[in-house]
Amino acid sequence: MNILVLNASPKGKNSATVQTALYLQALHPEHTFTFLPVGQRIKSYESDFTPVRQALEQADLVLFCYPVYTFIAPYQLHRLMELIAADGVDLSGKFASQITTSKHFYDVTAHRYVEENCLDFGMKVIRGLSADMEDLLQEKGQREARMFFDQLIFSCAHGPFVTPSPKAPHHPPRLYQPSLSPAPKSREKDVVIVTNCAKDDQSLQGMIADFQAALPYESRVVNLRDFPFAGGCLGCFGCAITGQCVYQDGFDRFLRETIQTADGFVYAFTISQHYTHSSFKCFDDRQFCNGHRTVTHGTPIAYLIRGDYQYESNLHMIVEGRSEVGGNYLCGVATDEGNTKEDIQSLAQNLAFAMEKKLTRPANFYGVGGMKIFRDLIYIMQGLMKADHQFYKSHGIYDFPQKQKKRIWQMRLVGALMAIPSVQKKARGKMTDAIIGPYRKVVAQAKEQKGE
Ligand SMILES: Cc1cc2nc3c(=O)[nH]c(=O)nc-3n(C[C@H](O)[C@H](O)[C@H](O)COP(=O)(O)O)c2cc1C
Repeated sequence: MNILVLNASPKGKNSATVQTALYLQALHPEHTFTFLPVGQRIKSYESDFTPVRQALEQADLVLFCYPVYTFIAPYQLHRLMELIAADGVDLSGKFASQITTSKHFYDVTAHRYVEENCLDFGMKVIRGLSADMEDLLQEKGQREARMFFDQLIFSCAHGPFVTPSPKAPHHPPRLYQPSLSPAPKSREKDVVIVTNCAKDDQSLQGMIADFQAALPYESRVVNLRDFPFAGGCLGCFGCAITGQCVYQDGFDRFLRETIQTADGFVYAFTISQHYTHSSFKCFDDRQFCNGHRTVTHGTPIAYLIRGDYQYESNLHMIVEGRSEVGGNYLCGVATDEGNTKEDIQSLAQNLAFAMEKKLTRPANFYGVGGMKIFRDLIYIMQGLMKADHQFYKSHGIYDFPQKQKKRIWQMRLVGALMAIPSVQKKARGKMTDAIIGPYRKVVAQAKEQKGE
């Protein structure tokens, strides 16, 4: 079989992920492997796509190899997906799969993003391998890589293939025209609207204009397409040590002084290829200069999304997961699918309310799970990721269970007592009372406060 490995790590041959593909190549001389360093060469493929087109045409199986970057794939792979779509090279009927390495932080959304794009290209998609960065160094990881490959080749012949998500019914393009008259503005809060709105995207421009009109505060628009990005994140980890990006395009300063200072964030984009135009992904990845520090914790977020968002369940998870992990209060998402004007109005009011009341809500699974991965990662990497480590220490993020020594001893005591049959008998029916007692107190106090 002709296997094309699209190595989308910006580190090229120094990528950890591509080592798994090289390992499989070494074990399977019966297959022809071709490697393209698309992550490193994306700029040159932008000006001449021919080498990629030819390689794609010759492939039976396309293996996307990339590191998970900020919930999805690196900017370079997002850009490649755009170039493939724009070129129109026929991939229908070809097999597709993927190998990623990561710390498993939102590897699921990354895999789904690649699957959805390959399904749109008409490819037969086979579930990929999501490995930890260090898996290949262990016998277990090597075995799982070998099993993945055996299963992959078997599935090419017999399936099963990944099933597509429901698609939006075909509809003519919607044009949203702004119609709201401006609400009186206060200067007490500063709201930044970060967008990658294209010059000809009138609908998104209209949504932003109406949002600004409805918002009772002044707001600024930052269009990412105007920022002179020198390139996507290189994954060099230079910023982990110095806090400064190796690029000289001034992005880290721009981020800290123009965006992160705001009291409220609005992200506005048009859906494209299951995320949005890659300029937004470049912005996402370059924020790695903040390391894993939730520096905007508490700042509320709102989204203006143009497109068939209701059919993009993976994007829902990305939107919610990002707010959850960042500790940002998600005010909501207004789209152009239904009552757009009313939704935009209510979203603007919600954002104002969240900023005024400094709303917070408990993190859900996306937030708690994500932060536990970061907590464990930074604790181990503390020697390298010094700024992250200091931040986690000072913000009490190292909440390892073993630190709750009192609670562990309490539970041991209860367990030991409950093992005695006579205590067990006496406790029967009283356990619930003991557990719920403190809650009842809180409710009683609330009633007292209200004078009931
Ligand atoms: C900009 C950036 C973003 C990252 N985002 C994630 C992430 O969202 N989830 C995760 O588990 N790991 C994340 N990582 C870690 C990489 O996925 C991991 O280090 C990977 O193994 C690197 O592979 P490579 O050597 O092939 O580039 C990120 C790393 C960088 C530099």
